[in-house]
Amino acid sequence: MILITGGAGFIGSNFVLDWLSENDEPIINLDLLTYAGNLQSLATLDNNDQHTFIKGDIGDRELITSLLNEHKPRAVINFAAESHVDRSIHGPEDFILTNVNGTFNLIDEVKRYWKDLPEDKKQAFRFLHVSTDEVYGSLEKTDPAFSETTAYAPNSPYSASKAASDHLVRAYHHTYGLPTLTTNCSNNYGPQQFPEKLIPLVLLNALAGKDLPIYGDGQNIRDWLYVGDHCSAIRAVLEKGRVGEVYNIGGNSEKTNLDVVHTICSILDERRPADKPYAELITYVTDRLGHDRRYAIDANKIETEIGWTPTESFETGIKKTVDWYLSNSDWTDNVTSGAYKSWINKNY
Ligand code: NAD
Ligand code: TYD
Repeated sequence: MILITGGAGFIGSNFVLDWLSENDEPIINLDLLTYAGNLQSLATLDNNDQHTFIKGDIGDRELITSLLNEHKPRAVINFAAESHVDRSIHGPEDFILTNVNGTFNLIDEVKRYWKDLPEDKKQAFRFLHVSTDEVYGSLEKTDPAFSETTAYAPNSPYSASKAASDHLVRAYHHTYGLPTLTTNCSNNYGPQQFPEKLIPLVLLNALAGKDLPIYGDGQNIRDWLYVGDHCSAIRAVLEKGRVGEVYNIGGNSEKTNLDVVHTICSILDERRPADKPYAELITYVTDRLGHDRRYAIDANKIETEIGWTPTESFETGIKKTVDWYLSNSDWTDNVTSGAYKSWINKNY
């Protein structure tokens, strides 16, 4: 079986659902259920014995050790993190606690477990660390895209904390020989993303007739990847990646924020026409502090070594995403109303 962390979050929950729809290898899912974790995203697995959910912290060494010893996973995939740049600007401490200290505690316990495995299991074991392209810093419009050898230059407390965790993973491979894999992915979008990130925030604000806040001039560029494609890339790297290596994952879909928001507005104009075009809700607001201008991924390595390419274009992925939010208003109502949080507090 495999152990994953952060599997109640946006990407982790998509990964669990994809994994169990494609094969029957069980998953142990460890997640602290912070504001960003949502078990409702996994509700279809309620009676599925292949999925075991454990509420807990990646920094809890005792818990990690007992899970490893009890379940003896062949791989650990670390999705758990504080993940929102704006939150990291207003309150960086949680980012250091989870992304840096938490990852350290987790990988250190994984190393102990791995060291004592029988030789064949030791060889086959993998620790896959899920990271971000934001560790490479910011590009100008004509700069070449980030490759695996681009120097780290993180600019936000979020990206600095992810960079620190990437370095720890690298060091655990180099120093102790732990069979690690690291993936650095571009911006994801798709079902079950918490509505603090640009795409779901704009979608839900538009449906509620609220302003669509564009930071600065709206010309910042991100390379957007549909979450299902990120999940297939992680599965491919887990299976075929060379130990100790880093793989960049991207969607070949560079868009300005303004383009993204206009695309969402025109899809909504078709699907849910209102009395005026949704784009009239666009409002320019004060820029984010230290706002990175452009991210772009050179995904040549994962394509040539592993044979992975994305299947969705931005145009197909964004339509699927809008449709998911339109037909899952229960999910969004619960997340936005706090009803979900009070249920968690009562039940866990
Ligand atoms: P998310 O914020 O939606 O989910 C994070 C999950 O981690 C939540 O379920 C939360 O409860 C859990 N968590 C937080 N702290 C924890 C702790 N101490 N112990 C256990 N669980 C904890 O994030 P996401 O967007 O799904 O991102 C997942 C991973 O992918 C992160 O490592 C992030 O850095 C990386 N990533 C995200 C993107 C993106 O666009 N969202 C892009 C590239 C990489
Ligand atoms: P976000 O989804 O927070 O991802 P990241 O900061 O990790 O790239 O933001 C994507 C882009 O959208 C980023 O350039 C900031 C911008 N943005 C807005 O213009 N308005 C918003 O309300 C949000 C949340 C983001």
